[in-house]
Amino acid sequence: MFNKRIKIKDLLSSEKTGYEATVMGWVRTFRNNQFIALNDGSTNNNLQVMAELGLLDEATLKRITTGACIKATGEVIPSLGKGQKVELKASSIEILGDSDAEKFPLQPKKHSLEFLREIAHLRFRTNTFGAVFRVRHSLAYAIHKFFNDRGFVYMHTPIITASDAEGAGEMFKVTTLPLDGSAVDKDGNINFKDDFFGRSTNLTVSGQLEGELAAMAFSDIYTFGPTFRAENSNTTRHLAEFWMIEPEMAFYDLEDNMNLAEAFIKYVINHALENNKDDLTFLAQRQEEEEKTKPQNERSEMGLLEKLNFVVSNDFQRLTYTEAIDILRESNHNKKKKFQYLVNDWGVDLQSEHERYLVEKHFKKPVILTNYPKEIKAFYMRQNDDGKTVAAMDILAPGIGEIVGGSQREERYDKLLQRMQEMHIPAEELDWYLDTRRFGACPHAGFGLGFERLVLFVTGMTNIRDVIPFPRFPKSAAF
Ligand code: 4AD
Ligand code: MG
Repeated sequence: MFNKRIKIKDLLSSEKTGYEATVMGWVRTFRNNQFIALNDGSTNNNLQVMAELGLLDEATLKRITTGACIKATGEVIPSLGKGQKVELKASSIEILGDSDAEKFPLQPKKHSLEFLREIAHLRFRTNTFGAVFRVRHSLAYAIHKFFNDRGFVYMHTPIITASDAEGAGEMFKVTTLPLDGSAVDKDGNINFKDDFFGRSTNLTVSGQLEGELAAMAFSDIYTFGPTFRAENSNTTRHLAEFWMIEPEMAFYDLEDNMNLAEAFIKYVINHALENNKDDLTFLAQRQEEEEKTKPQNERSEMGLLEKLNFVVSNDFQRLTYTEAIDILRESNHNKKKKFQYLVNDWGVDLQSEHERYLVEKHFKKPVILTNYPKEIKAFYMRQNDDGKTVAAMDILAPGIGEIVGGSQREERYDKLLQRMQEMHIPAEELDWYLDTRRFGACPHAGFGLGFERLVLFVTGMTNIRDVIPFPRFPKSAAF
């Protein structure tokens, strides 16, 4: 058997010595023709592999370069070096894959995140991205565990759909029609009858509508899958392809929904705190160093671990949109015209500068805003009795802004239909959705958490393009 090896994480986690082990991994550095720092991705910590002088011939020594893949067998011995208890004293070393040191883009030095984004196919092999993607994995696992333990059914909603779940029109078209103009008739209409699905289709912006159908049978479901938005937002918070977690629960009102979302966020962060200590400690140090380069007033008040512990152990601040507008309007920030968009009137959509003011300056903790004006929210949200607002909730996180968007759903057929008409959403196309309101409708609610925004928050990274393996954004779809 080829793969009779021990992972470096397991080898380092035990103080046991005096046994033979085989490890495989990629060389990070090679010092004095003797000491190899080896990493196999199981942990950020490298294993020191010691190749005694004379063990290897000149030709093999030359092939132990940064980036090369090797297999090493030898005895696990106590380490004299700092920072590790054990190391491997090699009795044989085999080169599995050479790496030309001159050409390998990752040198053993600090590279900028911008540079690493251009070589995203190799950046997994750095400490920073190793830590980020192990934490990402861990959060994904915790998400499934949270819902599974509470009896939620994981529902796979379609990626290709004919509907616009958010009614915002930010969709990527899916078509096999020729692009040479021959699919357009003389009046300029596209002949979708000849298209693959015989109709116009797009990539989904959200699995919610299909999720609601399933919740009307299973009570509690969640989706966790890729979603796509063709919004031309070149920001550190937006991706064209991102992953979203969307639970949908029958017999939930807005308050139940908020309670679940808050418990959910705390649970997954706590899971990472308990299971990714090394990686989070590394990322915390990284953030601290990064902060030193910023002016004093832009530095975070808390370190990464302190922030995460604070979030899991404190209640989120809950308030209505109307209360938030009052706070913003009366703020010194607004009076001194420090906002790019000044807050004067009730009804305006909140910009991320306003969300961040509330979270970072005013409350200094995560905030749940509720009951937004119906004009700035989607058609499916439940209309409140005031005739002006809907039972929406957004969760805003420090350093991130909106991390969750959700609502209680409009379960009353007439009200839903009327809202769809007002918003010019074709009822014929969503007849299947309306059926749930015709047959056994019930109060229900749900929310969507942007997975990459969560990973951003937990890792302390600052650009969303650095927390998804291969980011898609305007003018970029490399790899
Ligand atoms: O607020 P949004 O648009 O809500 C929905 O899609 C609802 N259908 C969710 C539901 O109730 N089931 O998006 C939900 C979350 C946002 O709060 C944000 O975290 C994330 O998805 N998000 C994005 N993340 C990265 N890039 C983008 N372009 C995003 N747009 C939204
Ligand atoms: Mg939203």
